[in-house]
Amino acid sequence: MTRPRRPFLCAIVALSTISNIAASPISGGICLPLGIDLGGIFDLFDAPLLTEVVPYFTSSITTLASAGVYTLGSGFAPATTITAQGPTEVTITNIATQTTTYPCPTSTSFTSSFWDPCKGCSTTATCRWTPSASTTTVTSTVTSTVTGTVTASCTSTPTPPPLSCDPYGYLIQYATFYRVDLTTGATTKVKAGLGDNSAINAIGYNTLDNFIYGFQASTSTIIRIAADGTSSTVVGADSPPPSSNVGDVDSNGMYWVSAAGESWSQIDLFPGSATYGKTISKGTATPLGLQIADWVYIPITGEYLYSVGTNSTSGGISMIRFSMASKEWEKVANYPTLKSVSTLGAQYGMNNGTLWASDNNSGDIWQFPIDGTSPFKVSQGPSSGSNDGARCVLNLLA
Ligand SMILES: *[C@@H]1O[C@H](CO)[C@@H](O)[C@H](O)[C@H]1NC(C)=O
Ligand SMILES: *[C@@H]1O[C@H](CO)[C@@H](O)[C@H](O)[C@H]1NC(C)=O
Ligand SMILES: *[C@@H]1O[C@H](CO)[C@@H](O)[C@H](O)[C@H]1NC(C)=O
Repeated sequence: MTRPRRPFLCAIVALSTISNIAASPISGGICLPLGIDLGGIFDLFDAPLLTEVVPYFTSSITTLASAGVYTLGSGFAPATTITAQGPTEVTITNIATQTTTYPCPTSTSFTSSFWDPCKGCSTTATCRWTPSASTTTVTSTVTSTVTGTVTASCTSTPTPPPLSCDPYGYLIQYATFYRVDLTTGATTKVKAGLGDNSAINAIGYNTLDNFIYGFQASTSTIIRIAADGTSSTVVGADSPPPSSNVGDVDSNGMYWVSAAGESWSQIDLFPGSATYGKTISKGTATPLGLQIADWVYIPITGEYLYSVGTNSTSGGISMIRFSMASKEWEKVANYPTLKSVSTLGAQYGMNNGTLWASDNNSGDIWQFPIDGTSPFKVSQGPSSGSNDGARCVLNLLA
C-alpha cells in the first residue's frame, strides 16, 4: 500500500532535548493530519519530523611566537586574554550549532491546530505517534548548518598545577624534588627525574605565578617546576651563568641566579613581560671570601639577597647580603660560635626576617634571624651533596 506523503505542521514541546519541530507550509489545501481519527485523537501513520539544534565544534590551532598576554577578539567567553609563558600553540574551539531533522523515533503525543475542511474551521486535536516494532532504527541527517552566534572557548597548552604558597620549604637534590616541613624536618619526595634527570640547582620560588624555577646545567636552561614536580624548560630564556648554584626570584619576578655569588644574572620571569626570559643585567661580584651555596630574597628586609656561608679562610660561618642596587656583597653578621655547620646548601626565606638553612652534611635545619642575632637549630632534614632550596617567602607559617 502506498500512502500519499504530505507535510504536517505541528509543534512539539514534549521532548525536552528537542529545541523545536520542523514547521512546513501546508500545501494543496489538505490540512488534516494523516492518521486514524479516533474522535479528536489522530493516530498518525507517519512519524512527525523533529528538528534538533545540536552544538557543532571546530578547532583551529594558532601559534603564539613569544611570551605575552594576548587579547582575544569579541565572542570569546569566558576568557578574554591568554597568558603565554613562552612560544606556544593555542587551540581555539568554536562552538556553532547545526540543525538535524529526523523522524520521531519514540512514542509521542502533542496538540496540534489544523484547518478542518469538513467543518470549515480551525480545529485543535491531539496527534499520537507510536513507532512499530520494525521501524525503531532511525538515521539522522544533517539538513542545514546554522551559522549562529559563535561562542568560542580558548585553551592553551595544558598548564601543570602551580604551587599554593604553602608553608613548606622545597628542596632539590640532584634531580629529585622534595617538600620539607621546616619545623619537623619531615621530608616528602614529590618527584624524581626532573628535566633530563641531571642535577638541578639555584631554585627560587616565583610568587607571581607560584612556580619554582631552577637551573639545569646539562642543558644550560631554566626549568620550571610545578606542584606535582612536573617540569618543563622555559623555552627561549637566556642561560644563567655556567655552574649556577644560587638562585631566588624577587617580588618583580626577577630570577637572580649566580655561580657561588660571583658571576650573576638577573633574568626576567615576570609572567607576560615583554622581556620575559631575557637577561636584564649581569656581572661579577666578590662574596667577601665566603663559599655561597644559596641565597634568599625577603621583601620586608629590602632589595637584598641574603646568604649564610662558610668563610674558606677562617672556617667560620657568616651572613652576607648582595645588594640588588649596587650589585655588591655586604657583611651582615659573623657567628663565631657556630662551628659544626658545613655547607648551607638549601636556604629558605620567610617574610618576617628569617632565613632557614639546611646543612647538607648533617641535614640540620637552622633559623638565622636577618637582624644578625643568634641562629638556632630547629630540626633535622635530609643530608645531601648537591641541593638547593626554595620557599614562598610570603607565607609566614613554618
Ligand atoms: C673571612 O675570613 C677572613 C680571614 O679571617 C676575614 O678577613 C674576612 O673578613 C672573613 N669574611 C667575612 C665575611 O667575615
Ligand atoms: C653541599 O651542597 C653544595 C651545594 O649543592 C655543594 O656545592 C657542596 O659540595 C656540598 N657540600 C658537601 C660537604 O657535601
Ligand atoms: C618568623 O616566624 C617563624 C615561624 O613562626 C618564627 O619561628 C620566627 O621566630 C619568626 N621570626 C621573627 C624575626 O619574627
